[in-house]
Amino acid sequence: MNIILLGAPGAGKGTQAIKIAKAYGLQHISTGDMLRAEMAKGTELGRRAQGYMQSGQLVPDDLIIAMIMERFDGLGQKGMLLDGFPRTVAQAEALDKRAKVDAVINLTVPEDVIMTRICGRRVCPACGGTYHISRDDPKICRACGGELVQRPDDNPETVKKRLDTYLSQTAPLVDYYAARGILHSVDGSISIEYGFMKISAILEKLKNR
Ligand code: AP5
Repeated sequence: MNIILLGAPGAGKGTQAIKIAKAYGLQHISTGDMLRAEMAKGTELGRRAQGYMQSGQLVPDDLIIAMIMERFDGLGQKGMLLDGFPRTVAQAEALDKRAKVDAVINLTVPEDVIMTRICGRRVCPACGGTYHISRDDPKICRACGGELVQRPDDNPETVKKRLDTYLSQTAPLVDYYAARGILHSVDGSISIEYGFMKISAILEKLKNR
């Protein structure tokens, strides 16, 4: 089963991805995490991506497509859970040439909720855990004890730009996948657990088809 998680920044893709990948034995592939790892390693790709990411723009398609195709080469038989890819029609077309997509889960969340979520997010660079200052310890990762940090692109100005970028370049994928009959929209503003139940109901139906 190959699944795409679609949704605006802060819609909860990363949060749900961890739960779905565990429950369904899928390989979680996050292009945002891959790019941040390249930046941390100081690679050529990381250096080229940094400016785009910190200003809320998309990294160019050719760089992303080359990075993700290389990642696909190293995959075994497990299904994929794609988080943050594709983000443009060109990326979706490149994916179509490489793999069959079984379902696209589109998490929908109003803009004011997104702003509060992203500006209060803290992440663990050691294990990738995601937290929020409204309900979690703002400093220490409860999974691995690592020190939590705020992503450099998680500030109101950059979030506004990321939302504009989402609307102009990624939102057209909603129609792209709806036209193929594989789009499932889920309200992303409900609780994390309830959202996961809704997504699981969709995936169970797919599994039993
Ligand atoms: P990326 O890292 O993918 O960021 P994003 O898409 O902007 O998404 P986020 O990680 O901000 O949010 P999320 O939906 O995962 O939400 P989360 O679960 O963390 O990409 C970063 C950058 O990399 C891009 O801007 C771009 O430059 C570049 N890039 C990446 N992929 C690319 C591509 N394919 N092409 C080109 N460029 C690319 O949740 C957010 C917060 O809300 C957390 O604090 C969480 O605890 C909380 N939360 C989540 N769900 C709920 C809920 N139901 N109720 C209450 N709180 C919740």
